Amino acid sequence: MAFETIIVDIDDHVCTIKINRPDAMNALNQVVLHEICTALEEGDANEKVRVSIITGSEKAFAAGADIKEMSEQSFVDVASSDLFGAPHRRLQKIRKPVIAAVSGYALGGGCELAMACDFIIAAENAKFGQPEINLGVMAGLGGTQRLTRFVGKSKSMDMNLTGRFMTAEEAERAGLVSRVVPAKKLMEEAQGAAQKIAEKSKFATLAIKESVNRSYETTLSEGLLFERRVFHSLFATEDQKEGMAAFLEKREPQFRDK
Ligand code: HXC
Repeated sequence: MAFETIIVDIDDHVCTIKINRPDAMNALNQVVLHEICTALEEGDANEKVRVSIITGSEKAFAAGADIKEMSEQSFVDVASSDLFGAPHRRLQKIRKPVIAAVSGYALGGGCELAMACDFIIAAENAKFGQPEINLGVMAGLGGTQRLTRFVGKSKSMDMNLTGRFMTAEEAERAGLVSRVVPAKKLMEEAQGAAQKIAEKSKFATLAIKESVNRSYETTLSEGLLFERRVFHSLFATEDQKEGMAAFLEKREPQFRDK
């Protein structure tokens, strides 16, 4: 599919989605969100793709939902169209791993989009925030929910109530991002992580994503049971036999996704 607001590049097993609205700091209007979801869904359906990366420009991953687009909307407009409900549901259904590679501003919906990915790699210049309070509103795509689970209540309240930005260093310390790298190395690092994942058994990567995400939805004992059952199921795969045989034979495994 041809896209207007994102650039999609599939190289080897990695689908890179670059948000491309330079005149608006990559603000997320409905078209961008629809296109990102479509590209991820196409990646899920494409046998060749094993991992996706969402990124922006050096200056902005995404500076939030598009304020111009939202400014004239009434309660009835946003409630009856369930504003951001559709992309939220579509993002949650993506089964293959998605990495957010964040440089510059990841604010409001931009921070929320990054948090909806499976993990975040940040450039040293990245800035995260939920500044919706400055617009007289609040987060609407996970900023009060996912951020709280990542960084705890105190920091989440601070970010959401004051609208202040968090540096990459603070975000790593708080557990929001998994790694911080120099800006010039961001894509190399993200591609390296994606390649590493692409080398693994595909079924195991899907199972891990599903199981980690389950931890947000259930009690510890139910989550542990879910994990154990999925773990058991992996013994039905040829990749489990191959992975363990390769270890014992001191060689690299040749996973065949079977
Ligand atoms: C629409 C935006 C935008 C946004 C920036 N722009 N952010 N347009 N929606 N979220 C536009 C500006 O209007 C400007 O357009 C151009 O991008 C460059 O921005 P500047 O402000 O001139 O750049 P700078 O001074 O460097 O400041 C960068 C910034 C600032 C700190 C990121 O732009 C900013 O505060 N943006 C808004 C951040 C925000 O409030 N995000 C939350 C949005 S609400 P022109 O035409 O003037 O050049 C939200 C709700 C989430 O996300 C709900 C679920 C998705």
